[in-house]
Amino acid sequence: MSEPENAEAPIPHPASKRHPGLIQRYAGACLIVFSSLVGIGLLCAGWIVLHGVSTRDNPTVLEETAARAMRHLAVPAGERRRVNPVPQTPESLAEGRAHWADHCASCHGNDGRGNTEIGQHLFPKAPDMTLPKTQALTDGELYAIIKNGVRLTGMPAWGSPGSAEDPQTWKLVLFIRNLQHLTPEELDQMKSMNPVSPMELEEQRKADDFLNGGDVPEPASPSHHPARPRASRKEIP
Ligand code: HEC
Repeated sequence: MSEPENAEAPIPHPASKRHPGLIQRYAGACLIVFSSLVGIGLLCAGWIVLHGVSTRDNPTVLEETAARAMRHLAVPAGERRRVNPVPQTPESLAEGRAHWADHCASCHGNDGRGNTEIGQHLFPKAPDMTLPKTQALTDGELYAIIKNGVRLTGMPAWGSPGSAEDPQTWKLVLFIRNLQHLTPEELDQMKSMNPVSPMELEEQRKADDFLNGGDVPEPASPSHHPARPRASRKEIP
């Protein structure tokens, strides 16, 4: 039996035979994509330089939509589908209110509308959580946001890291779901639980001394705020 004539001939490389000029063809496309990305980057940089980086502005619709979409995708679907395991009782709601007044109200307000000095000067601003945008988030999504925080915003991560179940965080989710039903009495009670700074405590002590027949209270030490006429706590709505 004789060998085929071209048995020793080198076998041509399959890719080079089927796709001649492959690299050259894609190099053009890569160059276009790369130049577009550089162009978009330069436009963004120019926009930032012209507009500044003040947190007084509001995010554009594009920024907000992109940020919310990324945040949504960053919570795995399994976590998003979770339903609050803590039953809604007067006690669990009361714990949620107390926790909120102490940890969250400085930015979000006792009423969850974000109308606070800090909340309105962040970028993005603390949202009005009574609105559908927040209420449409699932229990699991609210839980994940509270537990992990939101990058590049003022929203910090709360509770201990890891996957351990955190009933306190679930009670905050219950609180958010019930924002619409907060009564004026509950709001008043929450105001008495809001954190007080040492300076405010000192002002209050001096005012109490004065009312008990002591010296006229000294004006508060210089701060970013105009001196208030009398010692009073910074009111959180
Ligand atoms: C230092 C300010 C600050 C504090 C304190 C804070 N947050 Fe936030 N929070 C924010 C900001 C800013 C956002 C908006 C983030 C965004 O746009 O993605 C936010 C967003 C959220 C959201 C998502 C709402 C939505 O519709 O996007 C939830 C839920 C939330 N916070 C819960 C809490 C809870 C619960 C606490 C207290 C344990 C808390 N936050 C404390 C600043 C704060």
